[in-house]
Amino acid sequence: MQQRLPAHHIYYTLTYYYFYHYLPDDIPTMTIELSFDQGAVIVGGGTGGIGEAICRRFAEAGTPVIFTYNSNVAKAEAIGADIEAAGGQCSFSRVDLSDTDSVNALFEDAVAKYGRIAHVIYAAGPSFDFAKIGDIPADTWKKVINADVNGAFNLIQSAVQVFRQQGGGNLIGVITSAVECVPKADIMSASPKAAIEMLIRGVAKESGKVGIRANCVGPGWINAGLGKKGMEEKMTPEMVEKLRRSTIPLQKFGNADDIAYACLFLCSQQAGFVTGQTLAVDGGAQI
Ligand SMILES: NC(=O)c1ccc[n+]([C@@H]2O[C@H](COP(=O)([O-])OP(=O)(O)OC[C@H]3O[C@@H](n4cnc5c(N)ncnc54)[C@H](OP(=O)(O)O)[C@@H]3O)[C@@H](O)[C@H]2O)c1
Repeated sequence: MQQRLPAHHIYYTLTYYYFYHYLPDDIPTMTIELSFDQGAVIVGGGTGGIGEAICRRFAEAGTPVIFTYNSNVAKAEAIGADIEAAGGQCSFSRVDLSDTDSVNALFEDAVAKYGRIAHVIYAAGPSFDFAKIGDIPADTWKKVINADVNGAFNLIQSAVQVFRQQGGGNLIGVITSAVECVPKADIMSASPKAAIEMLIRGVAKESGKVGIRANCVGPGWINAGLGKKGMEEKMTPEMVEKLRRSTIPLQKFGNADDIAYACLFLCSQQAGFVTGQTLAVDGGAQI
């Protein structure tokens, strides 16, 4: 049975987040408490639009943050500086996630520095152009699969090894809500994420008995990172408006914090009976 370590508690005032953003002023408000096992979080892809929000929200919850970046050293330094200025602990490094030795070294350093690793979140992924299957260059396909699927595999495998040694931990794969509905001319974003989803479900089944929980968060259209870039660079304003109205029941795009808060919930003790699941955070687009 998993040993429960002393939890640190955080209070999220939903008054500010959900209620301020989504409901009229006269609705009564409430506060909930999420609690977390002690230990650090490792975020693969912390410089992404989504990864950045995950790093910042976990740091606010009092969790030491270790994140990786690929090319954007300036953003990595800015996130690290902000978290430390706010009193948090943060370290970051450039890691080729598709290289097994580099990922093993990341975990060795993290354990040496922070002791226990409570959560590992894969939020990385390469960017590429929309294309129909017949138009995807074979070389591009191989590069995307290598960076995304092999990158996630390495992070997941190292996480499982460390979690087994320490007697548990929480694993999250940030995938895409499009794994449940074939995206138009964007099969390359959904295919590797479907493989990652199955890897995560495999971990949940194999390693639940040693206290490992493994879940996915499936973003829909998020106005940050790749989603924002796609809407700004590949679509006309008319196309973006049509997308919003015709494919998203909540009639709005998500933001990076929507994904970060879903990750926080799934890593919390309040989600202690949830494993092997994918939580779509997509305004209902998957329905
Ligand atoms: N944003 C959305 O609307 C949305 C919707 C559904 C699914 N998703 C998925 O969620 C994931 C995160 O999305 P995002 O919007 O945050 O993407 P993003 O802003 O492009 O960030 C991607 C992250 O992955 C890192 N990265 C890129 N290529 C890499 C490689 N070859 N090896 C290791 N790391 C690499 C980037 O590092 P650098 O920035 O340092 O280069 C960055 O930290 C993506 O895989 C995306 O497909 C996003």
